[in-house]
Amino acid sequence: MACTNYLILLSTFLAIISQTSLAQTSFSPSALVLQFLWVDCDRGYVSSSYKEHDHKLRYDWRATLAQDVVALQSTDGSNPGRVVSVPNNMFICGSTSITKDLASGVTGMAGLGRSRIGMLSQLASAFSFKRKFAICLSSSKGVIFFGDGPYNFLPNQELSSQLTYIPLLINPDNVGRGYINGKPSAEYYIGVKSVRVNNVDVKLNSTLLKINNEGVGGTKISTVDRNMVLEQSLYNAVTNAFLKAASKVPRVKAVRPFNICYNSKDWGSTRLGLNVPLIELVLQSSSSSWNIYGANSMVDVGNGVACLGILVNPRPNIVKASIVIGAHQIEDNLLQFDLAASRLGFSSLLYGQRTTCGNFNFTSVA
Ligand SMILES: *[C@@H]1O[C@H](CO)[C@@H](O)[C@H](O)[C@H]1NC(C)=O
Ligand SMILES: *[C@@H]1O[C@H](CO)[C@@H](O)[C@H](O)[C@H]1NC(C)=O
Repeated sequence: MACTNYLILLSTFLAIISQTSLAQTSFSPSALVLQFLWVDCDRGYVSSSYKEHDHKLRYDWRATLAQDVVALQSTDGSNPGRVVSVPNNMFICGSTSITKDLASGVTGMAGLGRSRIGMLSQLASAFSFKRKFAICLSSSKGVIFFGDGPYNFLPNQELSSQLTYIPLLINPDNVGRGYINGKPSAEYYIGVKSVRVNNVDVKLNSTLLKINNEGVGGTKISTVDRNMVLEQSLYNAVTNAFLKAASKVPRVKAVRPFNICYNSKDWGSTRLGLNVPLIELVLQSSSSSWNIYGANSMVDVGNGVACLGILVNPRPNIVKASIVIGAHQIEDNLLQFDLAASRLGFSSLLYGQRTTCGNFNFTSVA
């Protein structure tokens, strides 16, 4: 399968990195920073003629990531500093088989997964920093920090001090995408205990929110799924609650793949996006919820129309999580994956702090 090929290529790549230059790097930064472009694989941006384009454009961020590892920059949390070089010899993007596989979805965290072959483990052991990274995606680009914060964003926002921490959960059965030969799942799960729409509890089957012994259920974060994906009955419950809360606003003809669409102008706009009903994931382990505001729930599909970015899980036998928090839901949210402490720090939508993921100051001070 193409997925397996991809993972083998990736792990070969990482093995080469770790055996060659990283091991010889004498400079020991406290953290590394990487800016990357992020594009929607589902829409076929990955093209077999990608070489004709600027190498930073038009392909999947995982591949960009892998190629850009040639020039990971150290950071003090405010600006990138000295470049830590890594051999510039490969990677792989845009082959038809990989494209196909991306379209049907492989794990978005392949290089950043829990698995020991993950890029993070390689970097962590090469530079002896804790297994910790933070990602911040903007609509078309993003930044990843390897190692510790601070994370200074313009104007003057230090985000590591503003995170809410919750446990990262382990899926016991390693089902679904992102694991190889029974090795631990590369996927990141969090504990959601209920869902609210505009402060009203959504009536749902809460068994679905737990990960069972077979690894079915629960809530995971995926950067490969563009939108939020819900198990069918949860989809029905959440979208019905949304429609009820939004009943005063007329719907317009749906734009595929979405079902619930509106004229954007019928919703007022706020700092946090369209003023649509708030979707709240109530967390098991925190008094605060994971709030999904308009900017993260509504997808602008053009012509002044915005649609609710929630889809039914089309392949429940492959994607076993009941809730998949997709890339659109984490855009302009800073997420810190601290594997050493097995916890996730999240910022909530950064527009609330008057910044965005595009606001890391990439002016180099090296
Ligand atoms: C709730 O979901 C679980 C897991 O899918 C299922 O076994 C159970 O029958 C459901 N309960 C109800 C009341 O639908
Ligand atoms: C970005 O960082 C550089 C180098 O530290 C600094 O000179 C510049 O003023 C910063 N830009 C802004 C907009 O703060």
